[in-house]
Amino acid sequence: MDVSTAIAKRRSIRKFEEGREVSDADLMTILEAGRQSPSWKNDQPWRFVVVRDAEQRSRVAECLPETNPAVNAIRAASAVIALIGVPAEGEVHQDKPFWLVDCGIAGENMYLQATELGIASVWVSLLDSPRLCAVLGLPEGMECVGVFPLGYAPEGYEPKPRGRKEPSEIIWFEQFGRPFDPAGS
Ligand SMILES: Cc1cc2nc3c(=O)[nH]c(=O)nc-3n(C[C@H](O)[C@H](O)[C@H](O)COP(=O)(O)O)c2cc1C
Repeated sequence: MDVSTAIAKRRSIRKFEEGREVSDADLMTILEAGRQSPSWKNDQPWRFVVVRDAEQRSRVAECLPETNPAVNAIRAASAVIALIGVPAEGEVHQDKPFWLVDCGIAGENMYLQATELGIASVWVSLLDSPRLCAVLGLPEGMECVGVFPLGYAPEGYEPKPRGRKEPSEIIWFEQFGRPFDPAGS
């Protein structure tokens, strides 16, 4: 029972090789993976801001609480993609912000595309969204859903996989509480 390569390979990586740049072509491929994402009614309630400049990255890093383990990754990255939500272009149904779900899909698609290209990243959402919106000069009403520092993991660096709940703890058949246990799985 193997999942696709990028899903299996992806890890949160917060350390990057110094001086190795992510090319503009690869950045465009990653952004295209976000742009092609599905969304409720095809709303596409997202924007992507690419930050390369070291001083601007530093201002982005300052929007994270100091205790966020990704602060240095943003300073060390070759580029950062900020994932921006536009609530006014999306919808909320029964208190579920579909625009946020849409942005989550776009974020994961970009993250998996980066992994596929051998580019390391970490999803970073614990940040001061209004402050980051100001740093990025965003119009009123937008939300900073997350930022993705991008770079290359140092040679030989392989963070240990974080564990996951067992299938038997989270997967049910027909009704909650009944195990899903197909023969031969
Ligand atoms: C919505 C979301 C927000 C996250 N925010 C942060 C963050 O602010 N800082 C950070 O260092 N990691 C952040 N992470 C990374 C998680 O800690 C990480 O995905 C989790 O521990 C599992 O590890 P893995 O990605 O290596 O499998 C975030 C992940 C998600 C999905």
